[in-house]
Amino acid sequence: MIIYFSGTGNSLGIARQIASAIGDTVQALTEAVRQDLTSEDRIGLIYPSYDFNAPPAVRSLVPRLKLNTRAYVYIIIACGAQAGNSIWSIRRLLKARGIEVAYSNKIRVPDNSAIVFGRNPNDQVWKFSRFASRLQMIIADIRAGKHEHHYAQWGPTAAIMGTERMQQWMIRTFRPSVNEDKCIGCGICARICPMRNIAVDEKACIGPHCTACLACLHSCPQQAIEVGKKATNRQYQYRHPDVKAKDLMLNE
Ligand SMILES: Cc1cc2nc3c(=O)[nH]c(=O)nc-3n(C[C@H](O)[C@H](O)[C@H](O)COP(=O)(O)O)c2cc1C
Ligand code: SF4
Ligand code: SF4
Repeated sequence: MIIYFSGTGNSLGIARQIASAIGDTVQALTEAVRQDLTSEDRIGLIYPSYDFNAPPAVRSLVPRLKLNTRAYVYIIIACGAQAGNSIWSIRRLLKARGIEVAYSNKIRVPDNSAIVFGRNPNDQVWKFSRFASRLQMIIADIRAGKHEHHYAQWGPTAAIMGTERMQQWMIRTFRPSVNEDKCIGCGICARICPMRNIAVDEKACIGPHCTACLACLHSCPQQAIEVGKKATNRQYQYRHPDVKAKDLMLNE
């Protein structure tokens, strides 16, 4: 089984490509934590890098997975460029549960946070073709059951930027908010939020459990979700080209 966490579909898209190549199934992390996975002998974890670390939701949910300690476990990060501590922090949490991660790697994909800095993530779709051969290499490694780790743990940037404290600060600073003048209460953001952190009455209201995935900001048809009160540009809203909004929505 391949377990993914995804806000804008990159991790799900990569998970699906790997699953189809190795004949496996994909499951959202938020669903997988409710299941007994001890009969699975191969587990993939695929998730983004947020501020040089694993998303807070991934750090809190992965230790709750019911896994077989003898399973072949691998981690793939779908990130803009830098994985930082994203792999190391989860390896450490799993090791504390008696689970050794056998293989890890990262693949570069469009950076969905570029929109926050006034850049268009859609301008980065070239990464899919540029790094296609790397994905094929990763697939071959997983198929062969390799035991290897392809990332620099605790590089200087990760050591400074990739701490949980720094990530919490970044997430607080770049937290999305709802522009009530634009919101029409359609509820799409509430259905796509992987944390079930948005309530919609007449207008959307973001709760306290935001993991900063930006799924809401990228999916709002009215561009009513903003960061730093800066208008969201429709042309800059991004989702993995092969993933639809409904694919990311949680089961009721
Ligand atoms: C809050 C936030 C922080 C991010 N920080 C990083 C980072 O430190 N390094 C990086 O390479 N990409 C970073 N990104 C980009 C995402 O890792 C990348 O776009 C990822 O593929 C998104 O995955 P998803 O589409 O499955 O949600 C960040 C994205 C967000 C939303
Ligand atoms: S998706 Fe946008 S318009 Fe719809 S409820 Fe959410 S914020 Fe409002
Ligand atoms: S509120 Fe928006 S950014 Fe925060 S976790 Fe939910 S979808 Fe992601």
